[in-house]
Amino acid sequence: MISRTFHCITFGCQMNVNDSDWLTRSLIARGFTPVPPDRSGEAEIYIINTCSVRDKPEQKVYSEIGRIRSMTNDDPAVLVCVGGCVAQQVGRKLFRRFSQVRLVFGADGIAQAPAAIEKLAGKRSLRISLLDFEEQYTEREQAWPDAVPDAAPDAANGTADAANVQMRGRQAPSAFVSIMQGCDNFCTYCIVPYVRGRQKSREPEAVLDECRAWLARGAREITLLGQNVNSFGQDGGGGGMSFTQLLYRVAELPGLARLRFVTPHPKDLAPELITAFGELPVLAPRLHLPLQSGSDRILERMGRKYDRARYMDIVNSLRAVRPGIHLSTDIIVGFPGETEEDFLETLHCMQDVGFMGSFSFVYSDRPGTRASLFTDKIDRAVALERLARLQDWQYNYAWEQLRGLTGEIVDVLLEEPSPKPQEGEIIWQGKEPRGHSVNVRLTGPEPEGGWMGAIVPTRITAAAMHSLRGEQL
Ligand code: SAH
Ligand code: SF4
Ligand code: F3S
Repeated sequence: MISRTFHCITFGCQMNVNDSDWLTRSLIARGFTPVPPDRSGEAEIYIINTCSVRDKPEQKVYSEIGRIRSMTNDDPAVLVCVGGCVAQQVGRKLFRRFSQVRLVFGADGIAQAPAAIEKLAGKRSLRISLLDFEEQYTEREQAWPDAVPDAAPDAANGTADAANVQMRGRQAPSAFVSIMQGCDNFCTYCIVPYVRGRQKSREPEAVLDECRAWLARGAREITLLGQNVNSFGQDGGGGGMSFTQLLYRVAELPGLARLRFVTPHPKDLAPELITAFGELPVLAPRLHLPLQSGSDRILERMGRKYDRARYMDIVNSLRAVRPGIHLSTDIIVGFPGETEEDFLETLHCMQDVGFMGSFSFVYSDRPGTRASLFTDKIDRAVALERLARLQDWQYNYAWEQLRGLTGEIVDVLLEEPSPKPQEGEIIWQGKEPRGHSVNVRLTGPEPEGGWMGAIVPTRITAAAMHSLRGEQL
């Protein structure tokens, strides 16, 4: 076993990914070392950042802890830390079940997790739970990738895949900045408000400072993060600023090439935010806007507080100010009481909008939610059949649209070398403005600061299902 080493396993949404990235940087700054993925069984400390949004999340976490236990022969020197939404839900019960688990932390407790891990690494008899919700957004100590010593175990072997770049805590050209924590909406199917707590907006100055710090370290793209980004400020936090006002402030930061945000909620999508898509060239022409269902009856039962007409109105207004914007969405299939007609309304609504992508899942009962008490549950086989139909349409439509992009000229923000370049070729993976991945064959001279973070004009030459190919112009 390597000393003071850790391995972090992440489930769930971008908020969890961002939390894990921060925790990784913070631990590295404290002198801990991440193990390379192919040696994950040799770590001393395991961190599992969990998600409870659907399906048997508790079981998934238990089987992950079980896997670590057998991989490490239940060594009592090994420390297992369970964080995130399942940890918040299950809490200290995890201590009783698994002797290696000695830290549990929730959404607000993560700020103290690095210090707790330091304490626990030196003291086997100790157990710590960080499960309290705070009244306000909890600021965290900042740990930057450039504070990270160069002595990470894989630094010498020159590999540069995504996991390694992240493991070294190195700067990527794309940064995620949290603007809020929690959610106040209590959609009837959703566990997030219970496990992530009530909405707490962050102070705008703290948001702007973090954005400035990322830009100073070479980031070109910023994604503002939150469960309902456009409800920013409605909880009384956020210094009296609205989301759109905050967006304009971030947009004017020098050095920023692309601005994105995720996830907005249709019910709070202000007209000013639509105007912003017309006024701010830095705002990327892409919006992920969860629809959940295309049936007004189901939307009402979900407690979403918008109807299909309102959703279509947003889509049409956006397209009027930003023609060519690409839209993607989240859909729940088989919500209690969903009829074939309701489902067809969802499918037709998706076809009307022409989503370039969607995350779609079968409805899953979550403990404590209102929908879990609804009695008209849908047969799983029926729901799965509907899901398959929906995903089939989405696959074909996206495929057709992607192929239609061939020949276009786009700016690609380069992120990392492509894992399998052809002999003698330099190929980097990056994103075009609408967020599609492009593998670009680079033909020009390497810029002074290197390829990472460079924005290269590219002609799209081919489409594959998950990425495009292109040639640098
Ligand atoms: N705050 C965002 C999304 C949060 S959860 C929003 O309001 O849209 C991410 C996605 O998980 C949701 O958009 C929803 O599609 C899905 N989801 C949440 N609870 C679910 C449940 N009980 N069953 C199935 N899918 C669910
Ligand atoms: Fe869940 Fe609804 Fe909040 Fe999104 S808005 S996190 S779906 S309760
Ligand atoms: Fe999952 Fe928690 Fe995110 S439940 S989706 S990790 S907020």
